[in-house]
Amino acid sequence: MRLEDIDFLIKLLKEQSGLVLTPEKAYLLESRLMPVARKNNFATLDDLVMALRGKNDKLLAGVVDAMTTNESFFFRDIKPFEQFKTVILPMLIKERAGAKTIRIWSAACSSGQEPYSLAMILHERAAELQGWHINIIGTDLSHEILTKAKEGKYSQFEVQRGLPIQMLVKHFTKIGDDWVLNDSIRRMVDLREGNLLKDFTALGRFDVVFCRNVLIYLDQKDKEDILNRISAQMAPDGFLFLGGAETVLGITTKFAPVPNNRGMYALSAAGSGSAKIGAAPAPAPAPAVAPPVAPAAAPIPPRPAVPQPGFVPGLPIGPASAPVPPQPAPQPAQPAVVKPVMPQPQFVKPAAPAPESSPMSSGFANPTLRRP
Ligand SMILES: C[S@@+](CC[C@H](N)C(=O)[O-])C[C@H]1O[C@@H](n2cnc3c(N)ncnc32)[C@H](O)[C@@H]1O
Repeated sequence: MRLEDIDFLIKLLKEQSGLVLTPEKAYLLESRLMPVARKNNFATLDDLVMALRGKNDKLLAGVVDAMTTNESFFFRDIKPFEQFKTVILPMLIKERAGAKTIRIWSAACSSGQEPYSLAMILHERAAELQGWHINIIGTDLSHEILTKAKEGKYSQFEVQRGLPIQMLVKHFTKIGDDWVLNDSIRRMVDLREGNLLKDFTALGRFDVVFCRNVLIYLDQKDKEDILNRISAQMAPDGFLFLGGAETVLGITTKFAPVPNNRGMYALSAAGSGSAKIGAAPAPAPAPAVAPPVAPAAAPIPPRPAVPQPGFVPGLPIGPASAPVPPQPAPQPAQPAVVKPVMPQPQFVKPAAPAPESSPMSSGFANPTLRRP
């Protein structure tokens, strides 16, 4: 490929997805874009670049898509999911007892393992959450990977990565060589296309945001911009999770790490979630010279019990259903037969379809839910 074509692609990808591709990684262009060229009947990458220069939105989406890294697995790194299950969820169940609404966003959800892992955790508390609106939204830039996420179909290799065998047996059905996620979990997650570089205010306000293993591909300015915009979409006591190689430190002061909880961040402003889970930052060391006595600060108003403006109804957990029957004992080996479908508590999804949005156009679709 000509140098100017490489430069053109690097700039294009940065602009469209935020991806920072260093010249040393330019070889990725070759390996990932050649299949796109072939699929679109171009003999060479030069021909593909020429077509891109001539404004071809569909081709552009395919190129951006092909350059994304979609690596993901169930309960990835386990710790964030344990923190969500044991620390945040109990806090939210207590704090949101009035509004009975919990909203979670898996930003850059890839093939769906992240939001589905969260849904499985929430499903465990279905009896307690009867009558609540649980809204789990998964968004990703890549149309192709979202199509896979919506299918909820995973290979043996994919389910062996991180998914506890009990969850596999309980929530998946073996069809041929694949494992298909049962509707009870699939229906809990609303998957949509969305580019984090674009305006995502239409998604509403969230109690928990998982934005893991995507900022790592972006430059400092885009990271700061995205984190600041996420902070504006969070409940004051909400939590953000980043990937193991990501941090807010040195990027934004809107979030602060939650002490003793690596990868977990709360809003820095007063009223942040850290205090509510008993992880308030240590008090600042006393200044060497006593500061003048300041007037007493105004008390922080209590959180309203009603949803905030822009807060969208989520998945109401249906009327009390029959108790969940005992689950089959964990199978040490892969079950040889298709497992029987167990009756599950009803998670009802509103019927209104949401318009599909192109990552190249408006960014995020409005928050209306879509049927799978
Ligand atoms: C490595 S995966 C992370 C998946 C999941 N969060 C996890 O930690 O397992 C990164 C995902 O970010 C998506 N992505 C990349 N740039 C994006 C952008 N600008 N907006 C939204 N998603 C983006 C990619 O399509 C990819 O699916």
